[in-house]
Amino acid sequence: MTERTAVITGAGQGTGRAIALRFAAAGIKTMLVGRTESKLRAAADEIAALGGEASFRALDVTDDAAVAALGERLADETVDILVNCAGDWLIAHLQDTSNEQLDHILRVNLRAPYILSRVLLPNLRRSDNASIINIGSIVTSISVPTVTAYTAAKVGLKGLTGSLAAELRPERIRVVMISPGPADTPMREAASPGIDKAVLVQPETIAEMAHAVVTLPRGITTSDFTLHSLTFEPPD
Ligand SMILES: NC(=O)c1ccc[n+]([C@@H]2O[C@H](COP(=O)([O-])OP(=O)(O)OC[C@H]3O[C@@H](n4cnc5c(N)ncnc54)[C@H](OP(=O)(O)O)[C@@H]3O)[C@@H](O)[C@H]2O)c1
Repeated sequence: MTERTAVITGAGQGTGRAIALRFAAAGIKTMLVGRTESKLRAAADEIAALGGEASFRALDVTDDAAVAALGERLADETVDILVNCAGDWLIAHLQDTSNEQLDHILRVNLRAPYILSRVLLPNLRRSDNASIINIGSIVTSISVPTVTAYTAAKVGLKGLTGSLAAELRPERIRVVMISPGPADTPMREAASPGIDKAVLVQPETIAEMAHAVVTLPRGITTSDFTLHSLTFEPPD
């Protein structure tokens, strides 16, 4: 079997890190992308210690020049998997949300996956079984107050996922969104300090599902899906 490669954004912690570890355990060569080099280095070291192979690139996914440079760096390489996992959150009432905050949430959660998918498409086209996985959120299927900007971004990402899946279907490139409910990551700890862990999905479980998607046979895909704790009750 040829060695497979994955580019994973937001791989320094939380869900992206768990996906990187799961892929590496399956023998997939990973490139870890995120803002903070020390976190990426720690994750890459952990993968190496477990016998896997990981490189890393510290960049802000909202920085177009940095993303273009990543594309140039990978110019001649095959990428089998792109996981758009980097994301940021905002809990705020509409009237308290500035234009700058709105722009940031849209840029990181929606615009960046769009541009990364476009930049790495030539690399994905070299693969004989390519996948793009976009990490969404349960807010794509339930409406929760005080997350209007985040919801707009993730619902936009769902639309992007569906349209791109249709566009790339003739090339047998699958594009799938995995939409977690509240997950046990640093983001959730920051957003909901002290939350009951029973209502959280573990990042390793999300990673397991991501691995299941990327190991589907060529020509097979699945619909977008949510993944959440059975004890999670959406707030009113
Ligand atoms: N946690 C939840 O409850 C939950 C639920 C549903 C969906 N999600 C989604 O799941 C994904 C992963 O979230 P998580 O919970 O694992 O969050 P996390 O623990 O905060 O991890 C997010 C990662 O994304 C990176 N990142 C953020 N902004 C970035 C940027 N502009 N450029 C590059 N990297 C950036 C962060 O890097 P640094 O650490 O270097 O800043 C961090 O490593 C996100 O898309 C999030 O919206 C999370």
